[in-house]
Amino acid sequence: MTSPDPTPAPAPRCPITGAGLPEPVPLYGREYKRDPYDLYRELHDAGPVHRVRFPSGIAAWLVTGYEAAHQALNDPRLGKNHSLGNDNWRALASIMPEPQHSQLQVHLLHQDPPKHTDMRRLVLDAFAPRRIEALRPRFQELADALADALPDAGGADLVQGFAAHYPFQVLAEVIGLPTELARRFDRDWGKVVQPVGPQDPGRPAYEGRLRGLQTYIADVVAHKREHWDDDLLSRLVVARDRGVLSQEELDSMVFQLLVAGQEPVTNQISTMLMTLLRHPDQLARLRDEPTLLPQAVEELLRYDGAFELTTWRFFAEDSQLHGTRIPAGDSVIVSLDAANRDERQFPDADTLDFERSPNAHLSFGRGIHFCPGAALARAELQVALGTLLARLPGLQLACPDDEIEWIPAVLARGVNRLPVAYDKRV
Ligand code: HEM
Repeated sequence: MTSPDPTPAPAPRCPITGAGLPEPVPLYGREYKRDPYDLYRELHDAGPVHRVRFPSGIAAWLVTGYEAAHQALNDPRLGKNHSLGNDNWRALASIMPEPQHSQLQVHLLHQDPPKHTDMRRLVLDAFAPRRIEALRPRFQELADALADALPDAGGADLVQGFAAHYPFQVLAEVIGLPTELARRFDRDWGKVVQPVGPQDPGRPAYEGRLRGLQTYIADVVAHKREHWDDDLLSRLVVARDRGVLSQEELDSMVFQLLVAGQEPVTNQISTMLMTLLRHPDQLARLRDEPTLLPQAVEELLRYDGAFELTTWRFFAEDSQLHGTRIPAGDSVIVSLDAANRDERQFPDADTLDFERSPNAHLSFGRGIHFCPGAALARAELQVALGTLLARLPGLQLACPDDEIEWIPAVLARGVNRLPVAYDKRV
């Protein structure tokens, strides 16, 4: 996935529209990341489509209403291939430099039918709900081992101590990444989707990450070719050897699985814990009634989804979107988190309600790019929360809420550190 923003910058002073909102609306800054929902409430009142600006300077069209978001995600006019982006988008969008862009950014999220359909078919079996359910006891073992390793009393950082490791361990089992290679994976490689400019002092480190990642992917592919097994990574290598995938598509899909299969889950565990720590009555209820976990996880996904904004989409021709004219090749982005708080779809949308029904949230997207890992993510989240709540009595934040730093990425919501206190001996 390519992230629309590399480096946060101070919000520009913008002219104020009649609706009282800046035009374009800056979508960044510490306060916005702490709580984007005040802004989303204002946007809902102003309409479903808005001009927004990211820190890189690029402007985009943001869809916020639930109905409009649903339609946009199912709109066959909106394509995903970067070749649809116009010159203005290309000049400002922070996309990976070449040749890596063409080698790593040709995965599912940057493809349109029929290519997308063929590529997607290759991954679906591995994430089928029945297969995931059969693996649940193993997910529990992995979560238990991490919980065992947390200190008995005092506290810990639950990102470093749990959320940063658990999703990758689970993913490795699901896609067939051998333990030796899984140990070598550097989570920092995922940051290559937030490129830094050629003059940026961080550029050498960025290029080092890209090289490290590409070497790693080549090692994974070589290993699976030598040690074929009936797992997803092996099947992708076979698809390459049979000419179904190009080398770039294979490398890109491996890259996407390693990053998309981990970071959103890590972030979602942290946002869910933050929500529960801010609602101690609901936290206590969930600890006492673990049968509520499946529905609580759905509501926590709706209440604060880790995939806040979708990736870019483009119209091939100038087009109308809910009365707004969008030039061809401008980027259109859907705010899944704004849609999930639309009162017209979710009464009392700002209230956390484990009994909410129906709860057709958009946290895993919609349409042909709907997250194929949704069943896996749901199982992981249920196991992770159930384990942490059961194993860490007295769980509470170990610092004031306003000292928690939300990650500055544009697409994602989550925290990098989550210091908590508890006492396992109680
Ligand atoms: C809580 C965790 C997760 C969330 C919130 C999430 C959310 C999403 C969303 C919103 C999209 C669509 C983005 C768009 O339309 O622009 C997506 C796509 C995708 N996700 Fe997830 N995801 C999660 C976990 C996972 C896991 C565990 C995997 C497993 C490998 C995964 C693999 C993918 C892939 C491959 C795509 C691209 C699908 C396509 O383009 O057809 N995700 N995810």
